[in-house]
Amino acid sequence: MAKIKSRYVCTECGSVSAKWLGCCPQCGQWNTLHEEIEAPPAPVAARSVVRRAGKSPAALKDIKSEETARLVTGIGELDAVLGGGIVPGALILLSGDPGIGKSTLVLQLASAVCGAAGTVLYATGEESAGQIKLRARRLGIDAPELLIQADTYLDAVLKTAENEKAGLLIVDSIQTMYTSDCDGAPGSQGQIREGTNKLMNFAKSTGMPVVVIGHVTKDGAIAGPRLMEHLVDVVLYLEGERQYQFRILRSMKNRFGSTNEAGIFTMSETGLKELLNPSALLLAERSAGEAGSAVAAVMDGLRPLLGEVQALTSRSVFAVPRRTVVGMDYNRLILLLAVLEKRVGLNLSTQDVYINIAGGLKLNEPAADLPVALAIVSSLRDVVVDKNTALMGEIGLTGDIRRVPHVRRRVQEAAKLGFTRFILPRGNKDDMGRHTYDVVYVKNLGEALRAAFKEE
Ligand code: TYD
Ligand code: MG
Repeated sequence: MAKIKSRYVCTECGSVSAKWLGCCPQCGQWNTLHEEIEAPPAPVAARSVVRRAGKSPAALKDIKSEETARLVTGIGELDAVLGGGIVPGALILLSGDPGIGKSTLVLQLASAVCGAAGTVLYATGEESAGQIKLRARRLGIDAPELLIQADTYLDAVLKTAENEKAGLLIVDSIQTMYTSDCDGAPGSQGQIREGTNKLMNFAKSTGMPVVVIGHVTKDGAIAGPRLMEHLVDVVLYLEGERQYQFRILRSMKNRFGSTNEAGIFTMSETGLKELLNPSALLLAERSAGEAGSAVAAVMDGLRPLLGEVQALTSRSVFAVPRRTVVGMDYNRLILLLAVLEKRVGLNLSTQDVYINIAGGLKLNEPAADLPVALAIVSSLRDVVVDKNTALMGEIGLTGDIRRVPHVRRRVQEAAKLGFTRFILPRGNKDDMGRHTYDVVYVKNLGEALRAAFKEE
């Protein structure tokens, strides 16, 4: 009898180790190795690997490009993120936190492409067919070509898709599916890897595009989409804060398009709606004319977005003052506070500092440094940043304000929403070219403060 062995697989990078280790030698993450029972190798005769002659190479100029017609979903934001629609035979992973709206999005997608793609098969291991029906009713979907299969057996799902000659297969979710080619419970690393491989082979051999949902859990232990990212063609992430309506669909990897596009939606009573003017929504409840508020023009991929940065400083009663952030990187705030202390001479060591980016937006871009810093100063000194001024600029450790990319786009977006005055890095002067805006170019924090608060 063959001996059953166990091995340890990293949930972050998928590397395999023979023994358990606290730290993955490949990616350096801690506590990511999980035990897997390795099935005994199949007898030689049963193995599907055959020795064969390799393929001969071809000159690049002789290879025909495979530009095929894409399946356009009609949901503009989704099409843009996909690079112009779904490519035949593509395996697309849609990932995101639980409850963010993945099942809603795929159901809307299924209904949108139904006519054009023919039949769409929606396989769900998460919910019953009745639950999907309820959601479809809520979304006002009544697509006769949409088939729902509530099943967790992947091989059966693939069989149905093939028999029905579906134009699109949706699998919700990979964690609930199992295949008989692999031991282990649904959701185990082995099942996820094998299931994804199967879907990939299926998509490539039939030309049927497949959208598969994958969960991310906080510690990533059973989720495994990290591991799947290497295998699939396209990785989409649906992000947002559940309490807010705002949802951003991002592509982290796309073999058929750019990863710069981001689709913006709102979650409404009747599903996800494309949001054509996100900046207006983000600024709708702005506390203009109040101290501690500044408007940032940031880029999300290639799209400019305006968001309100709110800062509150208050005298600390703690030995170590508190710093709390919502919507931006904590360490970035610490860095900005240190620069403000050292280069502008503000005394922040006795102040608690709270930062909130309104509307659930996440500012993970250095261009947001200047608005954050000015919002802090505004709150501390109780002076207002002019409500028609938009700001952008990266702050260096020496207090210098550095150039930001796509400055014209940001300014144009802000101008559309009625901003008339801009504080920009000196380094961006040439990028702005000829214009009619009221712009102040600043070289360092001191100049920026003078420009924002009109100090002498
Ligand atoms: P769901 O698509 O089930 O999320 P996921 O598949 O990512 O876990 O949607 C989750 C939430 O969305 C749910 O809490 C209810 C809300 N929702 C709406 O607000 N409007 C709607 O039309 C639908 C269908 C859901
Ligand atoms: Mg779901």
